[in-house]
Amino acid sequence: MKQKYYITTPIYYPSGNWHIGHCYTTVICDALARFHKMLGEDVFFLTGTDEHGQKVEKEAAKRGVTPLQFIDPLVAELKDMWRLLDISYDRFIRTTDKEHEKCVQKIYEKLFASGDIYKSEYSGYYCTPCESMWTEAQLVNGKCPDCGRDVTLQKEESYFFRLSKYAPRILKLYEDNPEFLQPKSRINEMVNNFLKPGLNDLCVSRTTVKWGVPLPFDQKHCAYVWIDALANYISALGYLSEDEALFKKFWAADLHMVGKEIVRFHAIIWPALLMALGLPVPKQIYGHGWLLIGGDKLSKSKQEAVKCELIDPYELVKRYGSDAVRYFLLREIPFGSDGEYTNEKLLSRINSDLANDLGNLVSRTAAMIGQYFGGVLPERGKAEGVDGELVSAAEGAFRKVKGAMEKLNAPEALSEIFAVVSRANKYIDETAPWILAKDENKRERLGSVLYNLAETVRICAILLKPFLTGAAGRILTSFGCSAEAGFDELEFGGLKAGTKIEKLPPIFPRIDIKKELAEVDGLVKSKKAEKAKAEEKKMEEITIDDFAKVELKVGEVIACERVENSDKLLHETVRIGEEVRSVVSGIAKHYSPEEMVGKKVIVVTNLKPVKLRGVLSEGMILCAEDKNGSLSLVVPEKLTGSGGSVR
Ligand code: MSP
Repeated sequence: MKQKYYITTPIYYPSGNWHIGHCYTTVICDALARFHKMLGEDVFFLTGTDEHGQKVEKEAAKRGVTPLQFIDPLVAELKDMWRLLDISYDRFIRTTDKEHEKCVQKIYEKLFASGDIYKSEYSGYYCTPCESMWTEAQLVNGKCPDCGRDVTLQKEESYFFRLSKYAPRILKLYEDNPEFLQPKSRINEMVNNFLKPGLNDLCVSRTTVKWGVPLPFDQKHCAYVWIDALANYISALGYLSEDEALFKKFWAADLHMVGKEIVRFHAIIWPALLMALGLPVPKQIYGHGWLLIGGDKLSKSKQEAVKCELIDPYELVKRYGSDAVRYFLLREIPFGSDGEYTNEKLLSRINSDLANDLGNLVSRTAAMIGQYFGGVLPERGKAEGVDGELVSAAEGAFRKVKGAMEKLNAPEALSEIFAVVSRANKYIDETAPWILAKDENKRERLGSVLYNLAETVRICAILLKPFLTGAAGRILTSFGCSAEAGFDELEFGGLKAGTKIEKLPPIFPRIDIKKELAEVDGLVKSKKAEKAKAEEKKMEEITIDDFAKVELKVGEVIACERVENSDKLLHETVRIGEEVRSVVSGIAKHYSPEEMVGKKVIVVTNLKPVKLRGVLSEGMILCAEDKNGSLSLVVPEKLTGSGGSVR
């Protein structure tokens, strides 16, 4: 039977502030999923979005839209980002999917019935950006220990999950099965920071948040967003639905790949929940490191505060292509650790590894076959001295790459492939085909050398398929192979003499780093300036007390005439309750004096009086202006007497 492989990324908050750091987890998972698919395994690769909770509720309210109106475009944006990066997920789950919500409700019902969820009162500190709860003792200088931002004290009736009961079983899980949580350092963090100090029961419902899954047994409570989110890993497989086939097939997950800041939720809360549900725990949780910028976790705000690095994934893919961005993420950051991100590092990787090493090998090999054999692959003749080393490097690479990928170590896997690429480039220098080409007696040897090179290129391209999803296929087709070629075609000697080898345009054109850095710097700066301008344009927020300072009243225009020597101004006499006022307004191009008489209007009545063209103005009539500059009087919708106040 086919081996199964179930791999997940975390589900993403639809913040819209996407940056290259966000792509890290998903690109790694994609390379792993593709690798396992190529091994012939039955792979299920899950990703998605985490859409409930206070953060989304607040952001939507701020914009005056519903949470879904706020989220939908962001989800579309995220999916587009995954499309650009060639992410081959098998399912994209949204926590607003109805089946997911039903599953969350069933999980709560089950745990409530078994007594693992009970009602009590919550009092503690809440960090909205992290959607996490803290006790006073856990705060650092009164702030969230994870992100350092402000927390708010909250007290409310809540349901709790008996997390404390599962602490001994979680410790035992780590002891019996050290592979469960990797890298090893994360186990120490969990044990020392959370398990040893003692676990409290976890508050798993909120009454103050409305944007969430309502608890089936108490509708005024919503599910805590992290329980809702973690459940995606099983709801996506149909757990507790009418069709549990996928769940039966794929659970328990082989790998939950997550960033290190969310290991706590995955390695403590999640296994405890699964234990309470009587389900097996995932085989492994891997807490990878972060992309840093100026020493801090890369984020949109850090980019603006620290440096002018280009971190927008759309822009990066547009400039350098998806393969280059994927390659950098998979190769540059030592796996499990943090790694500094700079544009210079990205560009150097592109130039040195992709353009120079790989690009040159491919183009020189194809060009020489073109030049010396009319683009037709010659026979592989008798092997000579240096050939053995190249052949064994190419043949041995798969075992090494597989070994690295079993440890989830994509940088090591890539470095093994690129060691073969380097060996092949050295082989070109050692064999000097251009010298062989000058001697008719060496024609067979020249053919052999070029055959060996073409075969090495083919093998490297197959091995690169999970990583460079575009270029690998293009290399294969130009070397007369199917882009679908798999790991069962890695034996040296697979290419048939007589195959047509086509020259292909440079797969990774060299970049002038100095020029590019200057351009990118300009681009980031101009985007920054644009943003600052837009911010400036936004009106300052005012309080309700500020607004109350403006007195607005309903008035009735009882007389109106043009102001002498002005084509813009009208002079209105306005009755406001008992009072009659003289008002000048710049609406002569939009209303005639005759039209104005009898109109009910809204007047600002506590403006300091001024004289306009010698006429006293004791107020201002409100108008709406459209984008073409047309004015329309703001009028009370229903007839009201003059003097009524407006609020
Ligand atoms: N919604 C939660 C996860 C719930 S899973 C049940 C969440 N979302 S997130 O959008 O904030 O992060 C998604 C992934 O992006 C996480 O794995 C996170 O670690 C990763 N990254 C975000 N910024 C990152 C870096 N600067 N570097 C590397 N990965 C980082 O957390």
